[in-house]
Amino acid sequence: MSTERRQLVRYLFLKLEPSWRRLGADEQFAHKQQFGQALKDFRARLLLRTYSTVGTRGESDLMLWQAAEDLETLQALETAIFSTAMGAYLNIAHSFLAMTRKSTYEFPDTPEDQEIVRPADSKYLFVYPFVKTREWYSLPFEKRHEAMEEHVTIGRKYPGVRINTTFSFGLDDQEFMVAFEGDDPAEFLDLVMDLRSSVSSSYTERDTPTFTCLQMSIWEALDALGGTPAALERRTDGAEPSENGFTPVATTRDVLPGVGKRVYLGSQAIALFNVGGEYHAVNDRCTHGRASLSEGTVQNSDGQCVLECPWHKGRFDLTNGTPLSGPVRVPIKKYEVKVAGETILVR
Ligand code: FES
Repeated sequence: MSTERRQLVRYLFLKLEPSWRRLGADEQFAHKQQFGQALKDFRARLLLRTYSTVGTRGESDLMLWQAAEDLETLQALETAIFSTAMGAYLNIAHSFLAMTRKSTYEFPDTPEDQEIVRPADSKYLFVYPFVKTREWYSLPFEKRHEAMEEHVTIGRKYPGVRINTTFSFGLDDQEFMVAFEGDDPAEFLDLVMDLRSSVSSSYTERDTPTFTCLQMSIWEALDALGGTPAALERRTDGAEPSENGFTPVATTRDVLPGVGKRVYLGSQAIALFNVGGEYHAVNDRCTHGRASLSEGTVQNSDGQCVLECPWHKGRFDLTNGTPLSGPVRVPIKKYEVKVAGETILVR
């Protein structure tokens, strides 16, 4: 029995039925809120990244990259998804199950902790199931190692592309799930073309379908589906800034103490927080990666009000946006907030 701490990995592709877009605006809004919250409720139980495949793949709209400690958590997440009102309009376009494992081949810069999925949080994810020919497995180990060394050497020519390989033998139809992260689709395309002439590529039996996925926050991915915007934009649409430049974005009932709320100032997403009755607004996008800071946590300790990013635990001073610790180096933009009656306004 393996003593390695491995993770179960799943790539779940969902397709929304067109009939959902004919629902009323309020129903669409409520569906997105409920669906988004169902996903957020799982943030503490597994690694969950949301991607949109709208505009890149016909049979799928949304992809959820999941890494959990056990199968039961993956199952519970899917049950939660299909228990939402929006779940009644979602179909599984594709599902791929895999597991982390130490690579069979070792190279000088092979990462130590291959049993843990650690996304680089790039803009794009290129995913496909992968099957080698049986002939490959009958080659002597040295020959396969040599071929993989060539493969890795080609990969190093494209430093902006990072590979995540997980294993599916016996768990699902493919042998591997391959997921490349990158910020430039052209660099990935060039890498794949370059790899085609490698020895190991000639032993490929299947490496399709291929998915080009765009990383987004839960709310952005839901809004990419169409329909009423998931955040509060709809409620403040048409709201004219008052004379002094403040714009209403929410009501005090919408922003619960200690829980972030994503709102919009025009097209700008803003993370709004209620800390002990005092409201703070900052740019929703973390300056380190692309995390949605409204999904972060706030703590008020030692006289300091700290916002922690949900992805890499970067910490900001919420009162002025200054980076405090973790990988964050650039301050987040802070907005002025005022409350008039029950209305929260920002500028
Ligand atoms: Fe990396 Fe926020 S995205 S710390």
